[in-house]
Amino acid sequence: MSGIYIHIPFCKKACIYCNFHFSLKNNFSEIIGCILTEIELNQKKISKNKISTIYFGGGTPSLIGTDQLKRILECLVKNNKLNPDCEITIEANPDDVTIKNIKSWKSIGFNRISLGIQTFDNEFLKVLNRAHNSKQGIAAIKNIKKEFRNFSIDLMFGIPGSTIKKLKYDLKMIKEYEPPHVSIYSLDVEKKTRLYNMVKGNKMKLPSNKLISDQFDLIFNEMDKMGYINYEISSFCKNGFESKHNSKYWSNEKYIGYGPGAHSYDKKFRYWNIKNNTEYVKKIREDIQVYEKEELTKTQKINEYIMTKMRTREGVCFKTLKDDMRLNLGLEKKKEIEFMKKVNIVREKNKNLILTNEGKKILDYVVEKLTI
Ligand SMILES: C[S@@+](CC[C@H](N)C(=O)[O-])C[C@H]1O[C@@H](n2cnc3c(N)ncnc32)[C@H](O)[C@@H]1O
Ligand code: SF4
Repeated sequence: MSGIYIHIPFCKKACIYCNFHFSLKNNFSEIIGCILTEIELNQKKISKNKISTIYFGGGTPSLIGTDQLKRILECLVKNNKLNPDCEITIEANPDDVTIKNIKSWKSIGFNRISLGIQTFDNEFLKVLNRAHNSKQGIAAIKNIKKEFRNFSIDLMFGIPGSTIKKLKYDLKMIKEYEPPHVSIYSLDVEKKTRLYNMVKGNKMKLPSNKLISDQFDLIFNEMDKMGYINYEISSFCKNGFESKHNSKYWSNEKYIGYGPGAHSYDKKFRYWNIKNNTEYVKKIREDIQVYEKEELTKTQKINEYIMTKMRTREGVCFKTLKDDMRLNLGLEKKKEIEFMKKVNIVREKNKNLILTNEGKKILDYVVEKLTI
């Protein structure tokens, strides 16, 4: 089963931490027209049978209006074989979530919403340069709940100025509104962002490692108490509400990405589309290749498997590595694994290697020790 990702590269405002591909211009129909052409041209020639998930991400898909979204969905239906129970997600920002929009998204086929709340703290929302306030965030959740059973909210922690008390408030709101899925990300300082420049220029101070570690603990404990399963390092869900689309990224399944900056993977090659909107339009119009690709080596495939699987609750399967990739990880990394078990950052479960909660705080270190 494959997934389809559609990248909508527009935003209302630039959040200070974000280095995803987006533009503040609103030449929506020009880009959407080219995304339709890209779907029809099928330059990458990845098989389009048995599509079980479609994910509209961004950028801000909720910004472009139902008519444009409908054009893309209709084009996808025409050019692919969709499973009848296909999960179809739209990423939405709270300031776009009106009852009217929610109803029309549902009417054109979306059955899941991923809502970018980030925090319920107005002061932080301002600092982050988000386009919504806390009241709009709460209203969006309440309205979504009227029409959608399956939805998710995104939160961030480790925001400059953050405290345990402030995080407790965000978690209290989860308890109150019970979204079936929550993604909680530790704020990353990405290069080429305003946040990066502010931190570098001492204009903004990041929370201490101790505070981040305490916030991790609070999240793991509280989410567990509320009945959420931490099925991937940043993803929590009530039973049966895992994101089917995102799970493809962690379980070596195919996905085809359309739109500027979108990535694709067909188990052999990794593809990435050009990130520049103007260049994308120009190339699509002339039917020139809009992507670059790389064939994965055996080592890259092994490392990719370790990197993605260590994020999940199933962890890395020694047997799969041995049978499918001819790597005896237990032997190859014996010293490293024994040490990491001793200091309680990994453990074995059902003959797989998984992260403990302490390990989840230092995933990059663990991956570095396990990859070849
Ligand atoms: C790229 S955004 C797109 C969704 C939507 N535009 C929004 O802002 O909610 C997807 C999610 O990535 C997370 N994210 C983006 N940049 C991040 C960063 N630097 N550190 C941690 N999380 C980040 C945010 O939680 C965001 O909701
Ligand atoms: S976080 Fe979302 S809304 Fe903010 S700039 Fe990035 S994609 Fe746009």
